Amino acid sequence: MIEPTLDIHLTDDDLDAALRSDARTGLTANPKTLPPKWFYDARGSELFEAITELPEYYPTRTERALLERVVGEIARTAQAEVLVELGAGSAAKTRLLLSALLSEGPLKTYVPQDVSVSALRGAAEQISTEFPNLAVHGVVSDFTETLHNLPRGGRRMIAFLGGTIGNLVPQERADFLAGIQQVLEPGEQLLLGAGLVTDPAVLVPAYDDAAGVTAEFNRNVLHVLNSRLHADFDPDAFAHIAHWDAENEWIEMRLAATRDMTVTVADLDLVVDFAQGEQMRTEISAKFRVDGLGRELDSAGFATEQVWTDPDDRFALVLAERR
Ligand SMILES: C[S@@+](CC[C@H](N)C(=O)[O-])C[C@H]1O[C@@H](n2cnc3c(N)ncnc32)[C@H](O)[C@@H]1O
Repeated sequence: MIEPTLDIHLTDDDLDAALRSDARTGLTANPKTLPPKWFYDARGSELFEAITELPEYYPTRTERALLERVVGEIARTAQAEVLVELGAGSAAKTRLLLSALLSEGPLKTYVPQDVSVSALRGAAEQISTEFPNLAVHGVVSDFTETLHNLPRGGRRMIAFLGGTIGNLVPQERADFLAGIQQVLEPGEQLLLGAGLVTDPAVLVPAYDDAAGVTAEFNRNVLHVLNSRLHADFDPDAFAHIAHWDAENEWIEMRLAATRDMTVTVADLDLVVDFAQGEQMRTEISAKFRVDGLGRELDSAGFATEQVWTDPDDRFALVLAERR
């Protein structure tokens, strides 16, 4: 087995500085908001894994089935020597891609990237054991800021799976795709997994499951603020909301204060009032239309090579080439 390596471009101090800045900006905004990357401490990453197993959460199993169907085609087209995966998390589905890239082409190196060091360490170790001839080189960083830290050399494909692209608002998405385009060489590829606009009767329960796991995941951001910034949120006093915004075509996760509250964030010297019923946005999960995705990729300098969708048109995998 080749021992996995881990490059940490986000230290605990960096994370604290970024969280302080995001928390101050978000908690003093009107309406209040917090960015979704702060869900993912070790507990948040575990809760996300639990979400992927829920009966209501169709995206993961739909994307997995789609990958199973088309992974050979992707591997034969891509001929990647290096697979870089952004927001890899546990990399559960990536095994399919790695197997195909190894058997159909010259894959040598896997570079999983994530903001969650715990998820990444686990994934890197497991993948190294399962694929002993593959060099696994994990990168802990923020994909909205530090793409230039990704290793260069060898023909690369960047994978961005799980519909995580939908967590970015349109301007962030455009900047992110343009950033990837700048990192890649002409002819290298991007494999994008994106949720499609589908029936709200299917969509909303995926983000508001009966067992309350997504609610726990949502409230985890308050636990993160309590532990990292010595805030005194009472997470149980916030209700989980999943709202389908039909105009923007995204699910919005919010936390609603169930009573009037005054919260102190000690490390920021900040006192924040919540009125009963006040809602704070914690995540968007945009759903796409295939044409719109193609236009966004085109504007960022990618040519769409192929699009695969599941039989219910709920999820798409897009292979695009950097022009
Ligand atoms: C929705 S999960 C998807 C995980 C996995 N790719 C999948 O398909 O199941 C989003 C992942 O992106 C990571 N993430 C979220 N924001 C990030 C950021 N700004 N930079 C790096 N990773 C981030 C999270 O830690 C999490 O592992």
